[in-house]
Amino acid sequence: MHRTQHSVEGPLAIEPDDFRRELIRAANWVADYLDAVPASPVTRPLPQQHRRYLSASPLRDNGQPLSGFLDFIDTDVAAYPGGNGHPAFFAWITTPPAPIGILAHLIGTTLNASCGYGENALVDMERGAVRALADLAGLSPRTGGVLTSGGSMANLLCLAAARTWFLNSRDATDGVAHDEVHARLVCYQSTETHMSVTKAARTMGLPLSRIRHVPVTADLRMDLSALRTLIEADLAAGRLPFCVVSNLGTVGTGAIDQVSEISRICAEHGMWHHGDGAYGGLGNAHPDLAPYYEGVSELDSLTVDPHKVLNVPIACGAALVTDPNRLRAAFSTQASYLDGNDEWPWLSESTLELTRPGGRALSVWAVLQQLGREGVRDLIEHYLSHARLLRELVRERPDLELITEGPWAITCFRYSPRDFDGDIDGLTARIASELQDGGKAFLATVRVHGVLTLRASVCGHRTTKADIEILVTEVIRIGKQLTAR
Ligand SMILES: Cc1ncc(COP(=O)(O)O)c(C=O)c1O
Repeated sequence: MHRTQHSVEGPLAIEPDDFRRELIRAANWVADYLDAVPASPVTRPLPQQHRRYLSASPLRDNGQPLSGFLDFIDTDVAAYPGGNGHPAFFAWITTPPAPIGILAHLIGTTLNASCGYGENALVDMERGAVRALADLAGLSPRTGGVLTSGGSMANLLCLAAARTWFLNSRDATDGVAHDEVHARLVCYQSTETHMSVTKAARTMGLPLSRIRHVPVTADLRMDLSALRTLIEADLAAGRLPFCVVSNLGTVGTGAIDQVSEISRICAEHGMWHHGDGAYGGLGNAHPDLAPYYEGVSELDSLTVDPHKVLNVPIACGAALVTDPNRLRAAFSTQASYLDGNDEWPWLSESTLELTRPGGRALSVWAVLQQLGREGVRDLIEHYLSHARLLRELVRERPDLELITEGPWAITCFRYSPRDFDGDIDGLTARIASELQDGGKAFLATVRVHGVLTLRASVCGHRTTKADIEILVTEVIRIGKQLTAR
């Protein structure tokens, strides 16, 4: 790269040599930090006083020297990690960053391209990243969409596309016809569906009374006869079922709804079928999971979250729509100060945001380039094999009870020694809480069929066999301690 001496004027200017020095310091800091993570506590509680300090405004009359910034990060910020960078972190589905994603983020920020309007290489890389995700998921090659801040935003965009499509199909795009149809729209999801779907539907103006929570069967998948009954009851009452959201990996246990059957029900009733695959949307890329994804190409839209299974740095989701014109129809709005074109529609026409980060596309691109199709399969296998180990260890212990397993890498279990006749939910909550405070391993809880369980999700590329063993040892140690008191 050709280097020139550029002028360093103005309040934000930094002398080039100072900048280069701090950048190298930062690069070394990043590498040292990542090296140190496995031997550090998973989390460290933030003292209240420190929280108050950080929450106060940083605004002073005078600016501070550049060199203090990295020291501040080291002592005041990075010392209190959320835990998801640690290999023994098993809570929610929050993952460590792929190292190549860290590089891509830095470069993406340097380029600082907006992927909403105008043309630049990152806009096309976002189109390419969306295509690659659709391909991995098993959707048709014409699928389009946008990257988003995560699964919540992707669910909102896809539901908005579903609504616009439905209104258009009834010539109800505006005026009285719109209001009349909109007031009768109903959408369906299972009781296991992530709360972001309800949030999305409410944001679109659907009241809770028209968001159905379909019961699940014993395997935590949507009960299809209950779905049919609810749809028929709504139709009989003059309401308009417009969309079913199926789970391609529930947040609680990783259960996968019956995609083909739900598509059939949607087709019968002229409804949109959206899949929430924020967690499991890429399952088709692994041979053990692929059979559960039969019929995925029939979906109208799919949410995937590269910041989950692919370990792309936060924040990165994707809204994939098999007919991209339907996403554009929901968001495209003309303005004289913006002049996109029909051959390469600007991405802001397919989402809420106008200015959008280009670094997101670069991160997905970088991670997928490193992995390739086989690498994605191997990464999923890494999660599945560690989840299998966890289940073996749980099965071996008479004081542990396996509650759910598979097909994805979430395991729900609890400490329940035979002679314990106290409050088992209370014990489970206390074990999770003490484990979180202890800093050796970290998981959260979830209710399964009404029972509180310890929920361990393996979704980090750095997790090892030893981390799984530590988790089990710690749960048993804390459980024994609590029941001996
Ligand atoms: C199934 C499912 N859907 C949606 C979401 C929301 O995704 P995000 O947190 O990226 O907004 C999650 C997050 O865990 C999820 O597991």
